[in-house]
Amino acid sequence: MADGKIIAFCNQKGGVGKTTSAVNISACLAAKGKKVVLIDADPQANATSGLGVNKRAVARSTYDVLVGRAGIAEVMVSGPLPGLLLVPANVSLTGAEVELVDIPQREFRLQQALEESRKQYDFIFVDCPPSLGLLTLNALVAAHGVIIPIQCEYYALEGLSQLMDTINLVKKRLNPGLNVEGVVLTMADFRTRLTQEVINEVREFFKERVFESIVPRNIRLSEAPGFGKPILLYDPFSLGAMKYDALADELILRQPDTVQGIVQKTAESGMPNQPEQAAAEPGNPAAGM
Ligand SMILES: Nc1ncnc2c1ncn2[C@@H]1O[C@H](COP(=O)(O)OP(=O)(O)OP(=O)(O)O)[C@@H](O)[C@H]1O
Ligand SMILES: [Mg+2]
Repeated sequence: MADGKIIAFCNQKGGVGKTTSAVNISACLAAKGKKVVLIDADPQANATSGLGVNKRAVARSTYDVLVGRAGIAEVMVSGPLPGLLLVPANVSLTGAEVELVDIPQREFRLQQALEESRKQYDFIFVDCPPSLGLLTLNALVAAHGVIIPIQCEYYALEGLSQLMDTINLVKKRLNPGLNVEGVVLTMADFRTRLTQEVINEVREFFKERVFESIVPRNIRLSEAPGFGKPILLYDPFSLGAMKYDALADELILRQPDTVQGIVQKTAESGMPNQPEQAAAEPGNPAAGM
């Protein structure tokens, strides 16, 4: 049985690379043989169109799942790669924030919808909108982990304390299992000092939680959604594709099963290993999240 690991791509700041990261990490993992579902929880439906699905032709969407009109499996459509499924969004999701207010257990709708089927998949990703409203809250309550994309730009860290407060509050009150899975630095321009400064600051704050692979500003990454393709199908040899592929590998390596697998293999081969280090909770200001 698969892990059914649920990860929300979350940052209430707009345009930081949530959707680009969610789409491309999903596609790279599917290409590596993982079973992946990407849930589009943003009324803008950028993940939906980014995977080549016409959002205007979507009959049932994440909205129907949240309001209890359909199960996840009834809404799912195939993505552009084997092993990649999409729960699409459309404009009706705009109303969900308002409609959910009157629905019982409104923060738990997505969690409940995923409960039965999640073990059929290795990864379930949720692409959140740029706000901390009920859609994002549903994603955080359902999730085991959060991936925070941060753009290497001015004011990169602005609003992050609000996001961390929200994550901590959800962890305390609604979902004790929630953790920060990782931080993805996006749109880096290594010619500028600003990029280096942002990288240093983010690393200082999030320590080992920051993924090693940093996504550069890459024109091919911004072109790909226009063709409804993840970068791996649009231009597999671009720097953007290589970095997202490396990020997908890092994510696999961070999963406890992988760590266990490596430890077991090393033990079997009689080689020294450092299981404590591999499994350790990083001691940093963001620890305990
Ligand atoms: N590494 C990159 N290089 C160049 N362009 C990029 C890169 N990453 C993202 N973009 C472009 O930047 C814009 C914002 O990215 P994206 O849509 O992924 O951000 P977002 O956080 O999902 O935005 P929103 O908050 O509106 O949902 C898009 O036009 C996208 O194509
Ligand atoms: Mg987006």
